[in-house]
Amino acid sequence: MSEQQSPWSSVDQIANQVLSCTKCVLAETRTQAVPGAGSSSAAVMFIGEGPGKNEDEQGLPFIGRAGKLLDSLLEQVPLLRDDVYITNVVKCRPPGNRDPEPDEVAACLPYLQAQIELIDPRVIVTLGRHSMLRFYPQGKISNDHGRIINIGKRVLLPVYHPAAALRNPRLNETLKQDMKRIPEAVRESLLLNANAGNGRNRVQSAVQKDSSPILADEPDTTFLTGSSDNEEPEDSSGEQDQMTLF
Ligand code: URA
Ligand code: SF4
Repeated sequence: MSEQQSPWSSVDQIANQVLSCTKCVLAETRTQAVPGAGSSSAAVMFIGEGPGKNEDEQGLPFIGRAGKLLDSLLEQVPLLRDDVYITNVVKCRPPGNRDPEPDEVAACLPYLQAQIELIDPRVIVTLGRHSMLRFYPQGKISNDHGRIINIGKRVLLPVYHPAAALRNPRLNETLKQDMKRIPEAVRESLLLNANAGNGRNRVQSAVQKDSSPILADEPDTTFLTGSSDNEEPEDSSGEQDQMTLF
């Protein structure tokens, strides 16, 4: 869906439509939909996979155990919840916290895409492998976590899912370190936009050689994919059960 075709002109309008949405079967089992929360002009947007039990009950994203960990990670950056926007790939809880099916992801993606277009964040932090794959289908979470990746006019920072970090102390430490790269990711997005605006005034990137952003060939509007057909088999990161943890 391109920007011109989006039927919504505000983040609140999207939220209202999500609350009454019945576009996929997840509507039948949800308590309530979870559109997202935070600043509608956030520079940093966090995208998880789908609401868990607590989120389904209260209608807010990341408020269970994984959410508490996310709060403490935000504090370290430092960022407040009010400074950022937090949402999920699917807005309704998959029953039993199963992975969302490709048709559910596809049905829900227009909401996420419209949220991204309206909020217009500089940095998208994907929480977990499944969310990363929506933006970077060739990615492998064990290799690409913590990398600053250019996806057009924004940058992507894939990190491990907080629920995975809760059950694996090693991932917890990695997640902490990766989250600390958010300020650098914001700076990098500013440099990329400055360079895109005027070729004669190119600004030197501060990002180290070993973490250089990948220069995407694709325009920004083509990065979301509704299918998980090209997902790699799960790696051995311990993250594969993340949807069963909350
Ligand atoms: N896990 C997610 O992916 N999203 C939430 O909102 C809560 C837990
Ligand atoms: Fe609608 Fe998304 Fe909920 Fe499915 S998951 S019913 S598409 S809001």
